[in-house]
Amino acid sequence: MCGIVGYIGKEGAREIILRGLTRLEYRGYDSAGIALFNNEEKTFNIYKDMGRVAHLESITDFSYPSKIGIGHTRWATHGRPNQVNSHPHQSGNHRFFIVHNGVIDNYKELKSDYLEFNTFDSDTDTEVIAHLIEKFSNEMSVNEAIRKTMSLLEGSYALAIMDTENSEQLYACKNKSPLLIGIGENGIIISSDLMALVGYSTKYIPLQDKSFVEISGNQYVIYDVIGKQMEHDIKTIDIDYFNIEKGEYAHFMLKEINEQPSVIRTIISKYFDEDKVTLNGEIKKALSVSDRLYIVAAGTSLNAGYIGKEMFEKMAGIPTEVHIASEFAYNMPILSSNPLFIFISQSGETADLRAALVNVKAKGYRSLTLTNVKTSTLAREADYYVELHAGPEIAVASTKAYTANLAVLAILAYGLSNQSFDLRNELSKVAISIENIIDKHEYIESLVKESLTKRNCFYIGRGIDYYACLEASLKLKEISYIQTEGFAAGELKHGTIALIEEGTPVIAIISQRKTSKNTRSNLNEVKSRGANTFVISTRGVHEHGDQIVLDDVYELFSPILTIIPAQFIAYYAALHRGYDIDKPRNLAKSVTVE
Ligand code: M6R
Repeated sequence: MCGIVGYIGKEGAREIILRGLTRLEYRGYDSAGIALFNNEEKTFNIYKDMGRVAHLESITDFSYPSKIGIGHTRWATHGRPNQVNSHPHQSGNHRFFIVHNGVIDNYKELKSDYLEFNTFDSDTDTEVIAHLIEKFSNEMSVNEAIRKTMSLLEGSYALAIMDTENSEQLYACKNKSPLLIGIGENGIIISSDLMALVGYSTKYIPLQDKSFVEISGNQYVIYDVIGKQMEHDIKTIDIDYFNIEKGEYAHFMLKEINEQPSVIRTIISKYFDEDKVTLNGEIKKALSVSDRLYIVAAGTSLNAGYIGKEMFEKMAGIPTEVHIASEFAYNMPILSSNPLFIFISQSGETADLRAALVNVKAKGYRSLTLTNVKTSTLAREADYYVELHAGPEIAVASTKAYTANLAVLAILAYGLSNQSFDLRNELSKVAISIENIIDKHEYIESLVKESLTKRNCFYIGRGIDYYACLEASLKLKEISYIQTEGFAAGELKHGTIALIEEGTPVIAIISQRKTSKNTRSNLNEVKSRGANTFVISTRGVHEHGDQIVLDDVYELFSPILTIIPAQFIAYYAALHRGYDIDKPRNLAKSVTVE
């Protein structure tokens, strides 16, 4: 969470930083701030407030040239979102300005051990870092002061630092939180992710944990904490600028829902050679020699993981467990003798997964990351990675990464199985069927207007449909704020049915022949208690009166289809309530704190 951008060079720092912050706003949008050097008057200025980058832009002075600066967009962890807690923060004597993404676990101890007599303006952990750097820089060089501070910090941080006594130099360092250096022709950008670099630089360096960089002009030197220069790789940015723009769509979420057929087709083109699945040999071997797969993920990726489990078990016969990353990191179950860990993460930066991966690696186990960002931390740190090829996903509510996950999981499971059905053809059918649903979006909008008028809602289903319900309900609740639960249809009557009132919306997902009758009885149970029910079904199991009937596809792939109307339901429910669809309250796209 939180996005940081820094710039030093010959161009306008303010414009580059504000544009970068706008692109990083999906990482957090409680408040935004920028600190700039006024190259005319030789002063440092700070602008920050609650709210979005557009507001920050409106309070920033554009009248002077500035060639160096740092900026931040915040997702609050320590202290309420308000002006004082917004970044940049300053040291006690205002010598240092810093922006931070991460969480310092020992900031209270550091305050009492080193800064007992200092006065703090904010409630943040970040301000402590600025005070420490200033304190140490009274006794040593800035380079040494920052590294000494790093050696004391416990937790995660990506920091950009400006020293008001030296307007020619910018500093940055990181541990656990992502940080990149973009190398442009006329200057250098520091950024939390590639988005802020696109269009400015084509080359970048992903900084390693516990590294520190000193930048002046176009020169940079990377050190470790003890001050030894570090080797680094320069990589090429391969994101297309047009992929990170909304284009003709009102929202990124709508664009990304509509992109799903082409995402499935891209995945087919990447993982098939004619009709044969082409899996990397090493990955195939790692998967097939393991006696049990452990899928570890969070949020939407976790919901994809549950369906991945069904695919691995039913298609390939490999026992598979699915774990919530934040639980797994600190409470591992008894493991099998030859496990393989699959980390599923759209962003590849989720801190809960990273914590789990660190533990898994420490125990010497092998790991595979499924991610949409091949340059991400989880892709780099796992033994293997498999790319989702969904293209940049900007809306906080994940849509195309979920369907991409399911398609890639299907390919992996198939690649390990003795199945002989035509997978390529089945996935192509799925892409066409998604298009058929997209064509009905206006009808879905009218259903939403009529039926989703209450404060709460349930999705119910059984088996793989239940797992689809988990994702459907996450989508609805996170952007429309309707309290929604995804429930195993048969379990509702064991307590939760008490919440059903006159008019409570209950949406059933029914795509599986062996459980369709049971789910329909559960639907009748809630209907007879006043629920306003409706059904998303597939043609083979549909009944007269079902509101949304989808094409039949290979049974295990039905969640790739049933989620599409649910995504539209969430979208229209939020749209008609007037909410900010792409940036729902309290959330951030990339959850880089535990
Ligand atoms: O980047 P990741 O897939 O690791 O992110 C995991 C969750 O934070 C993410 O899926 C979240 O639940 C989305 N907001 C869901 O739409």
